[in-house]
Amino acid sequence: MVVQNGEPKDALELKADWPTPALPVMGSNLLVKVSHAGLNPADIHFMAHLPSWLPFRRNAIPGLDFVGEIVQTGPLAPPEMTVGTEVCGSLGVRQVAFGAGSLAEYVLVPSDLVAVKPATLPLAAAVGLGTAGQTAALIMRQAKVQKGARVLINGASGGVGSILIQIAKAKGATVVAICSNASDAHVRRLGADEVIDYKVHQDLYDFIAKTFKESQLDLIIDCMGDDALFTKSPPYLKPDGKFISIVGGRTQGIYPFLKNKFLPVFLGRTPRSYSILGLAPAGTYAREVAQWINDGLVKEVPVDSEFRLEEAVEAYEKQATKRAKGKIVVAIKS
Ligand SMILES: NC(=O)c1ccc[n+]([C@@H]2O[C@H](COP(=O)([O-])OP(=O)(O)OC[C@H]3O[C@@H](n4cnc5c(N)ncnc54)[C@H](OP(=O)(O)O)[C@@H]3O)[C@@H](O)[C@H]2O)c1
Repeated sequence: MVVQNGEPKDALELKADWPTPALPVMGSNLLVKVSHAGLNPADIHFMAHLPSWLPFRRNAIPGLDFVGEIVQTGPLAPPEMTVGTEVCGSLGVRQVAFGAGSLAEYVLVPSDLVAVKPATLPLAAAVGLGTAGQTAALIMRQAKVQKGARVLINGASGGVGSILIQIAKAKGATVVAICSNASDAHVRRLGADEVIDYKVHQDLYDFIAKTFKESQLDLIIDCMGDDALFTKSPPYLKPDGKFISIVGGRTQGIYPFLKNKFLPVFLGRTPRSYSILGLAPAGTYAREVAQWINDGLVKEVPVDSEFRLEEAVEAYEKQATKRAKGKIVVAIKS
């Protein structure tokens, strides 16, 4: 748990004698015995910045994404969510605000935040139906990708990007992935048609402009928070094309959002559609991703690496390197 704000090595302590959350007598909550937790960049921000001195956040448990087996159900839980059912999802804003987390033996979660785990998906990989997969679902709802669309994904090899590539391809798009050479084989395996290595070009945006001048893109999805990818986009993004970012807030500040969204064009706004999306986890998103998997549209949730709960600090240190290809997972064994 998070005993003080800071980097994972200073913030985290393993507690072996923590009480199992009690299932309320009313409502549709589920008590889930966690098999695997998935890590996200947001966990590290929360660890560093959500005040650990607040009474309701003392000893907060890190982690949003979970996979596990239902061990107890509230009286109003849906009929398909019975004891023994394997479920997955992401904890919501409310649970996290009050110190709940998925790096624990048990999580107490409202049933409307979970999906039944697709049978073909290994337990560890099912953490992908948490934040990463749900964010991909949120993006796809907004993007409305059409057959034949040309889609550029920045940060394509990460947790979100690895799912986005597959679903965009399944919808009939041509996918261009931006990542380093180290991730080239990974994104091509997931379906990327072209790969741009962001490390080799002296001027990345000039390279993209030259490459797509004659065949402009319909959609750019930015999973890295690269403001210049938007502000320099008119040569390579169609006038009616969309730019969707999932990185804003603390990491970027509010200024790029205000400038890119609201400044009049004559005062310098880039004349292209711009949005920043923020996920509020929900079972509807998780179930949408489960459907993609059951229908074979998303064939794989890549697991970069798996750690034991005792190795949570190392797992988070790896997450902080921003080098993961897919999800970093912590196996919870009691
Ligand atoms: N708005 C929301 O609701 C929401 C939801 C989920 C995530 N996010 C945010 O979205 C971002 C991505 O999340 P994630 O879970 O996919 O992250 P992640 O798994 O940690 O991403 C790691 C990947 O990023 C790639 N990468 C690192 N630097 C890059 C660069 N300069 N250009 C292109 N690719 C680069 C790495 O590829 P290489 O090793 O090949 O460089 C690596 O494969 C994070 O900032 C996260 O906080 C936001």
